[in-house]
Amino acid sequence: MKCYELQGPSGIDGLALVDKPVPEPGEGEVLVRLKAATLNYRDLLTVKGGYGSRQKFPLVPVSDGAGVVERVGPGVQEFAAGDRVIGSFFESWISGEPSEAKMRTNLGGAVDGVLSEYRIFPKHALVRTPEHLSDVEAAALPCAGLTAWSAVVKLGGVRPGQTVLTQGTGGVSLFALQFAKMCGARVIATSSSDAKIERLKQLRADFTLNYKATPDWGKKAREWSGHGVDLVVEGGGVGTLNESIGASRIGGTIAFIGVLAGPPPSNSRLPLMVMQQQRLQGVTVGSVEDLKAMADAISVNRMKPVIDRTFSFDQVKQAFTHMESGAHFGKVAIAIG
Ligand SMILES: NC(=O)c1ccc[n+]([C@@H]2O[C@H](COP(=O)([O-])OP(=O)(O)OC[C@H]3O[C@@H](n4cnc5c(N)ncnc54)[C@H](OP(=O)(O)O)[C@@H]3O)[C@@H](O)[C@H]2O)c1
Repeated sequence: MKCYELQGPSGIDGLALVDKPVPEPGEGEVLVRLKAATLNYRDLLTVKGGYGSRQKFPLVPVSDGAGVVERVGPGVQEFAAGDRVIGSFFESWISGEPSEAKMRTNLGGAVDGVLSEYRIFPKHALVRTPEHLSDVEAAALPCAGLTAWSAVVKLGGVRPGQTVLTQGTGGVSLFALQFAKMCGARVIATSSSDAKIERLKQLRADFTLNYKATPDWGKKAREWSGHGVDLVVEGGGVGTLNESIGASRIGGTIAFIGVLAGPPPSNSRLPLMVMQQQRLQGVTVGSVEDLKAMADAISVNRMKPVIDRTFSFDQVKQAFTHMESGAHFGKVAIAIG
């Protein structure tokens, strides 16, 4: 089988296509023929050495994949050859609260990922693909989809009539917009590009802001919402936190997920969170149980992930370069095989 491997944090050019034997599933394991993968910002960071000495090498990168069961090992009754499946971001976080042990097995980081024609999954780390989704669309779910689901639905508890703010037009943010609309919320969505803002409107964003043209977008979002937004999906991280605090209502929540905007400004508004009794909620993807719940909600609502562009398996480097450029709107995908 062919798979991509990184020998070290050598950047996109260090991604090497190698040949390996197809592995045999053991007790409780499932061999999946991967059909598609999608990229997350984290995968780019991994390839570029963003995780420093914590990163294991050699590594098959990329966490998010979907495919078809090729064969199952002894003791597997839950799946059979031909079933369409998606793999969980964390193999050992099956349900309940996260823990160090449960989060140790993240794909494309601590353990090998999905840029491979075949991969073995423990049976408990697989979820059935929603029928209306293609393999490429399904491959968007494990990290980007589930992070947005956790931020908006599970931990955010968004209710009809509330207001949610999303930042930029990357994979997580567009899922967050879609889930917020699914919950009956109003969405304020930002982007650095007016062309992308037009596309945000097509996704039913109620109010849009260009965060480059309007650096005080937090104030504008607060004004538009009335008393401030109920939930901010904080993709920018500490670099955008000041504006997010400004946008949030008293008692509002900031779901802290990302690092896109770089270092914090010197005039931090963090102390304001005390006076406004706001909640900062860290989010780290989610469990297999959460992935199942999200897949069910996606099925019922016939929701379709936003795929920007699909590259072929021999164009993996181009796919990473495209993501690095920031030109994408939604998910950058790779068709495998
Ligand atoms: N905590 C978790 O479990 C978890 C899981 C997944 C991802 N993340 C994090 O979430 C963030 C988003 O990941 P992703 O995979 O969705 O990334 P992505 O698809 O690469 O998103 C890139 C987009 O983000 C927007 N952006 C960049 N800088 C921004 C800024 N300063 N303010 C607002 N938007 C900005 C841009 O949108 P425009 O072009 O429209 O401006 C850019 O195109 C990353 O920091 C990632 O590490 C965390």
